[in-house]
Amino acid sequence: MLNRRNREAVEKAVAALGLTGGETALDIGFGGGLGLRLLLPAAARVHGVDISATMLERARATFREELAAGRLVLDEGSMTALPLADGSVDAVVSTNTIYFVEDLDAALAEVARVLAPGGRFVLGIGDPDLMARVPMLTDNGFRIRPVADVEAALAAAGLSLRKHERFTHGGLGFHLLSTAK
Ligand SMILES: C[S@@+](CC[C@H](N)C(=O)[O-])C[C@H]1O[C@@H](n2cnc3c(N)ncnc32)[C@H](O)[C@@H]1O
Repeated sequence: MLNRRNREAVEKAVAALGLTGGETALDIGFGGGLGLRLLLPAAARVHGVDISATMLERARATFREELAAGRLVLDEGSMTALPLADGSVDAVVSTNTIYFVEDLDAALAEVARVLAPGGRFVLGIGDPDLMARVPMLTDNGFRIRPVADVEAALAAAGLSLRKHERFTHGGLGFHLLSTAK
């Protein structure tokens, strides 16, 4: 369900990373695992971090072969304390995740920490103006931030905005912020 609704956003976000085949990639908040599925053929090694034990369990069952081959590493953890070494990743993607993150500055500082110099980070978020009109989201504690605030937080973390793409998916506007360290 999650995968179906978010498919277009995740596909566009992974494509925006421009992976070249031999790199190490990370999906933060991988949820149903579509991002992992798309990253695997495009990268040499893929990491996935999610705060949910349930999502970890599902992904471990889905990606048995890739895990056994060492091409995929999955960790339970938060975007605000990533279980990865400094400068260990070439490309990071995260879609529809920061609504659940209270301390965005801490999360983006972590993304910048794990990225190698010149590494890319693509952040996908629903359009805040449209999201703010959806009671199912506002009533359930989603942190809906203006895009300008997110862009400022990216810059403060040392992630330079290279491209801002807007598109529509599932009746909601979506923003892809492509950055580089
Ligand atoms: C709405 S789902 C998005 C899944 C997928 N990225 C997509 O776009 O379809 C949000 C995911 O982020 C995870 N998540 C929430 N807070 C997180 C945090 N602080 N750190 C890492 N993952 C988090 C949730 O467990 C969930 O799997």
